[in-house]
Amino acid sequence: MNSLSVRVATGIAVAAFVGALTSARLESQQRPLLSDQVFKNVQALKGIPVDEFLGTMGIMAASLQFDCSDCHVNAGTANVDWAADTPRKITARRMVNMVAAINQNNFGGRQLVTCWTCHRNRDKPLMTPIIATIYGTPTIEPDDVVTQFPGADSPESILDRYIQASGGTQRLAGLTSISARGTAVSFGGFGGGGTVELIAKAPDKRSTMILFKAETNRGDQIRAYDGTTGWVRTPLNVVGEFQLLGSDLDGARVDAQLSFPGQIKSILTNWKSGPPTTITDLPAPTSQATVLQGAIGNQSHVVDVVQGTGPRGLLVTLYFDQQTGLLLRELRFGLSPIGRVPTQIDFADYRDVNGIKLPFRITYAWLDGRDAIVLDDIRTNVPVDETKFGRPAPLQPR
Ligand code: HEC
Ligand code: HEC
Repeated sequence: MNSLSVRVATGIAVAAFVGALTSARLESQQRPLLSDQVFKNVQALKGIPVDEFLGTMGIMAASLQFDCSDCHVNAGTANVDWAADTPRKITARRMVNMVAAINQNNFGGRQLVTCWTCHRNRDKPLMTPIIATIYGTPTIEPDDVVTQFPGADSPESILDRYIQASGGTQRLAGLTSISARGTAVSFGGFGGGGTVELIAKAPDKRSTMILFKAETNRGDQIRAYDGTTGWVRTPLNVVGEFQLLGSDLDGARVDAQLSFPGQIKSILTNWKSGPPTTITDLPAPTSQATVLQGAIGNQSHVVDVVQGTGPRGLLVTLYFDQQTGLLLRELRFGLSPIGRVPTQIDFADYRDVNGIKLPFRITYAWLDGRDAIVLDDIRTNVPVDETKFGRPAPLQPR
């Protein structure tokens, strides 16, 4: 503002003024917008990045086992009206403020109570202990935060074993790029399979592009990170394409860095190892199973558990197969005003590519959906198109 008015005051260069205005406008177009600038009727969750806002919607839907359409008029159709208030939406907004007050008044502002704390997958929270549950088989529900377990191998030794299993320090140091192709199914198989192009460049660039067939008319699914900025384009989504600005940006960086395992020890800090446990491959939805036979796992593995922290409160838990030493799962938690937002990436079907073990099956699951990716060709150290790590190119009619 100041520099603008100074320039106006000189009164000589109208052209310069117009130029300044245009660049100011351009700048504001390029600056990522916050929730209440992008959406029309945001009252409780103002001033947060779009990725974080959509994360809160995921938490709400997951906590109550709702679809978007349980709170939003016509969600899932072309006539959706996200801004319109429904009775449930109004209740949910009240609960956002309630949760903030509970945490403020009882836990010194620490975010210990979230929608999940009470709701746990149901619209009306349970009130009374159920005898059958108390004496039944317990399900494993690990804490988000791992504390060092006395009997566990040290984080360093688990990470070293992984580096060794992946190909060893020397070979991994020579890994400069990855370029892969395959197929994917997303969102419960809607629209059939897409073709996948996955590229990565050391140390921290990665882009996963799922291109759906033109006749499905659903647009592409792209996650790109260029070492500094991150972008997501999601088909059938509220905002279509948005720049990552919240903790999804830090998560995207970790995803990219994990493509190059040799550097794993330096990408996070404050490493801890928890008690070894058993994890089961995320089952693919049945609609995916019919399209992508190879994508279903459901196998159990005994794993070593290691957690590190990243910038801005990012928590990343890594699960390493005790048998092979390889990374089977990355579970990362971003932050939002109503609780942590989990993203889980499962890796399977490791094969040798020029002396380095790389996963040919990747399941990327977040609160609002999942992509099951099966790669059939991975090349290492080939040139990759660097523009594909930046903002996704405009959609081409295909
Ligand atoms: C439990 C109810 C609930 C569910 C389920 C839910 N939302 Fe929301 N949604 C809300 C509330 C409450 C707001 C308003 C938040 C505020 O006022 O800060 C909102 C606002 C929005 C907005 C902003 C609309 C505007 O223009 O003001 C969008 C977009 C949105 N939700 C998308 C989604 C999507 C996508 C899903 C499914 C993944 C979803 N929501 C699921 C309760 C819900
Ligand atoms: C301290 C416990 C608690 C927490 C935390 C909590 N809720 Fe609730 N919520 C309830 C209870 C209890 C009800 C049922 C109220 C009733 O039946 O009148 C409810 C009902 C609801 C309903 C109405 C469901 C229906 O039947 O249509 C919505 C929507 C809702 N909560 C959203 C949320 C969201 C979103 C959050 C997190 C921001 C949240 N709640 C956090 C206890 C909680």
